[in-house]
Amino acid sequence: MVKKYIMTPGPTPISEDVLVEHGRPLMHHRSPEFSKIFSETTDKLKKLLKTENDVFILTSSGTGAMETAITNSFSIGDKVLVVNIGNFGERFKKISSIFGLEVISLDYEWGEAADPEDIRKILDEEKAVKGVMAQFSETSTGALNDVMAMGKIVKDYPAIFIVDAISGLAASDFDTDGWNIDIVIGGSQKGLSAPTGLAFVSISGKAWKAIEISDISKFYFDLKAAKASLQKNQTPWTPGISIIVAMNRALDLLFEEGLEDVFKRHRVLAMATREAAGALGLELFVADPGQRGFSVTAIKVPEGIDGKELTRIMRVKYGVTIAGGQGKITGKIIRIGHLGYVGMFDVITAISALEMTLADLDYKFETGAGITAAQKVFSENNYLDQ
Ligand SMILES: Cc1ncc(COP(=O)(O)O)c(C=O)c1O
Repeated sequence: MVKKYIMTPGPTPISEDVLVEHGRPLMHHRSPEFSKIFSETTDKLKKLLKTENDVFILTSSGTGAMETAITNSFSIGDKVLVVNIGNFGERFKKISSIFGLEVISLDYEWGEAADPEDIRKILDEEKAVKGVMAQFSETSTGALNDVMAMGKIVKDYPAIFIVDAISGLAASDFDTDGWNIDIVIGGSQKGLSAPTGLAFVSISGKAWKAIEISDISKFYFDLKAAKASLQKNQTPWTPGISIIVAMNRALDLLFEEGLEDVFKRHRVLAMATREAAGALGLELFVADPGQRGFSVTAIKVPEGIDGKELTRIMRVKYGVTIAGGQGKITGKIIRIGHLGYVGMFDVITAISALEMTLADLDYKFETGAGITAAQKVFSENNYLDQ
């Protein structure tokens, strides 16, 4: 028997509490019982996002919410600025192009965060830009964008600001209204640690004005239909009922722990993972410590080692699933997720499995150095001592 552990940056482990909710007998989506849960869940998402804006729960993965933001906010031929620091920036570009938008791409080296001032320069030159899109946490590299600084800039231009916070939410603070973010995109399967299959978007007044004049075709993801249904605490189409019930409980768990403590836990887990990597002589993919997010740590695969083989051995032989690199850095990095329902011993387990796998691959290091470094971080920064 190989016991299985999931240490990816999504999907993330799900607590027993949430799984029990997910397994409850199904209720009908037009029943008052479900409407109550739907309304509660929406309110809790608003609290997590720190927003008074409308929040819509969509039955789709996060990419569906990215498509929703784009198809509802723009018209064919509109110019948009995509801040591209990795694979999910590339996805914003692809969706925008497919729906007939003209994309200005602000590209950075993978492993770097964007410089918000570069956005100002482009918006000053390109007066017709209708929207700016950026990731908060770029999951493919582990870099974290300063979307607060970006929001301060974009608010003074006609463009709306769309932020994909799918993997950053609940790992560190996110203040939708305070940071002037018009559309925030989130998903159920990352920091919330609910089952896969739900996404959500928050929509500001400025974004609604853009939505009113959008001419891109949409049906399933039509936010005007969603808004009409929201008034009845319903969705236009049959939603992922069980996932919503589960996510409602998952949100409770975050508030019961306390958001500040949730963020602290993620900071400590990230710190321990990074110290462990360093103790094993491994290099982090995001070079600037100030640009590293708290959801996932990307580590360069050492010279002479096959990154795909490394993740395969960890998964098959030791039962620990971590993520590899995506897109153009496939095989070149590994990514350890420390996001959601994850604690210090999950990190210890992942580091231990990494050490055993590296030993299998004849990489030279001091056995136990990674675990010792992680344990030291946990002893000195015990997030349980609240
Ligand atoms: C930052 C980011 N954006 C978008 C997505 C796409 O979400 P999904 O796979 O749920 O469609 C992901 C998923 O990994 C992500 O991490």
